[in-house]
Amino acid sequence: MEFFLDTASIEDIKFYKPLGLVDGVTTNPALLSKEGGDPIAQIKKIAEIVKGPISVEVTYTEPREMVKHAIKLNKLAPNVVIKVPASIAGLTAAQELKKAGIRMNITLIFHPSQAVPFIQLEVDYVSLFVGRVEEFGLNNKEAIWQLRQSIDEMESPTKLLSASIRNPEYLLEAVIAGSDVLTVPPSCWQMVYKNPIFQLGERDFLKSWRTLPATARKEYESLD
Ligand code: E4P
Repeated sequence: MEFFLDTASIEDIKFYKPLGLVDGVTTNPALLSKEGGDPIAQIKKIAEIVKGPISVEVTYTEPREMVKHAIKLNKLAPNVVIKVPASIAGLTAAQELKKAGIRMNITLIFHPSQAVPFIQLEVDYVSLFVGRVEEFGLNNKEAIWQLRQSIDEMESPTKLLSASIRNPEYLLEAVIAGSDVLTVPPSCWQMVYKNPIFQLGERDFLKSWRTLPATARKEYESLD
């Protein structure tokens, strides 16, 4: 399993990278706009820090423009992967991009059926929007499982990427249901580790520990 960070923030990438949580990065137009400034410069900065795949999305909806834009974005860094929407226009563009050898991450998948032709095309990643699936009243556990079965049944090298991970529950579902990659936003990792029950437990243990006289704690706590 690989973990990508779902962000365009340099600060977040620098924080999470040493924790082993940045095998790659997924950006999208919304995440890039949140950072402000020049998105091209931002992608280049990310590519200086992260050697794994960096997903960058086309901002056109017409196939020919999508292809042109993808070719341009693909030149930004050797590890760029182009995000193409899971639409008919996206599928049309994907045929061309595949021939050109451009790596693709198919985005905005809400129902596994959207991914099937792209799996057949052997794109690199299909991104299921786990959080948004649930917001539309669909069952995301089932959707991840169905996507997993589809990829395996079609014997495709395409990787299942679970995206739109909003909370620790979605994160676990995405792991258990068989994702190859999870792209997790910093806000979700914060929720995982700012768990109040954990914090209470840690505080209680240390409070009890400090009831021992300092002399008794000395050897145990020595770092020499
Ligand atoms: C990932 O590649 C997506 O850009 C991301 O997970 C979108 O999630 P959202 O539903 O939080 O916008």
